[in-house]
Amino acid sequence: MTAYKLLLLPGDGIGPEVMAQVKTVIGALAETGLATFETETDLVGGSSIDAHGVPLTDAALARADAADAVLLGAVGGPKWSGVAYDIRPEAGLLRLRKDLGLFANLRPAICYPALADASALKRELVEGLDIMIVRELTGGVYFGEPKEITTLPDGTKRAVDTQVYTTGEIERIAHVAFDLARKRSGRVASAEKHNVMKSGVLWKEVVTQVHAEHYSDLALEHVLADNCAMQLVRRPKQYDVLVTDNLFGDVLSDVAAMLTGSLGMLPSASLGAVDDKGSRKALYEPVHGSAPDIAGQDLANPLAMIGSLAMALRYSFGLGEAADLLDGAITDALAAGARTKDIAGEGVNPLGTAGMGEAVVAALRSRVR
Ligand code: NAD
Ligand code: IPM
Ligand code: MN
Repeated sequence: MTAYKLLLLPGDGIGPEVMAQVKTVIGALAETGLATFETETDLVGGSSIDAHGVPLTDAALARADAADAVLLGAVGGPKWSGVAYDIRPEAGLLRLRKDLGLFANLRPAICYPALADASALKRELVEGLDIMIVRELTGGVYFGEPKEITTLPDGTKRAVDTQVYTTGEIERIAHVAFDLARKRSGRVASAEKHNVMKSGVLWKEVVTQVHAEHYSDLALEHVLADNCAMQLVRRPKQYDVLVTDNLFGDVLSDVAAMLTGSLGMLPSASLGAVDDKGSRKALYEPVHGSAPDIAGQDLANPLAMIGSLAMALRYSFGLGEAADLLDGAITDALAAGARTKDIAGEGVNPLGTAGMGEAVVAALRSRVR
């Protein structure tokens, strides 16, 4: 069996805790003959600042570039709140995304049947929910220049962030969204604010054009991003594929996470362009952060991280069957009552991070048997 090269970047806070569970799952995938990985581990974020003075070394970036896929835990935390802006932990993650060209961030929000009562919303609103948020990841206000704070003549300050999108950037993310929709329900909603932002005007225009030229058999709806946030809470199941820019995608995916029960449930895939050999750069990471409030206490939910490994099986290695088995193992573990504290509800004795990892591995073994 091919041994795929995976680079593991556990990062900070709960990152290493949830990554430890992924390592257990990787062991089980090898034992059951589903997939074999050669893994390497490196530093990113605060842990890299502590060791090397920067949140991502050139050597770590080169390793990420050479790997078949990268798995990342989370970065950041109060320990590094005093470091210079340019070398803050989050800058390491942003450099990985930008330098590897990972423009397409897929964030599926699925409400597992066993968790329909764990959501902040009523069961009937979220039961069966399956949304795919497609977030543009290498453009927009995250990377636009100028980005600066200057001092005005009167001594007060002025901060500038710049939202920039080009036709090409919008076209390629629109293609990703429509291609996904074609394999799903055939419906795409595109969220922007063309009523306020020039980048929103262009976004709407380009998405409309890509739709008309290549995907007129699919349904396209435009929605203002603020209304979209409200609709996600009011009637989330109206959406299937939701395509949006970098900042709106960041915010809307945290909203969508709570529909599934917890931020600890949402995996993600960050994908680059397909090259002439048919492969693409990819990084897989949970949507959540380093959760400093629960770090080091065996409280973190590892399912977003484990689900991110399932996305790697699917999108980087063409192992759809193994991915289905792993997603199925998550479903089974939840159905059997496995809960971490964030999804436990009242009167349930929760498992720790490691306990949940073991529950998924046990469920995987029974599915394979
Ligand atoms: P966060 O996602 O770390 O935490 C928000 C809340 O959700 C916290 O109460 C936390 O305990 C809870 N939570 C998150 N993941 C969980 C899990 N797996 N299981 C159970 N509960 C979980 O967001 P924050 O507190 O705003 O940010 C903390 C740090 O993480 C910041 O430095 C931020 O920049 C960084 N961050 C990193 C990433 C990333 O690495 N991809 C993503 C988001 C935030
Ligand atoms: C995410 C995070 C990151 C983002 C931060 C840590 C840079 O919030 O992946 O959702 O804003 O993209
Ligand atoms: Mn975020």
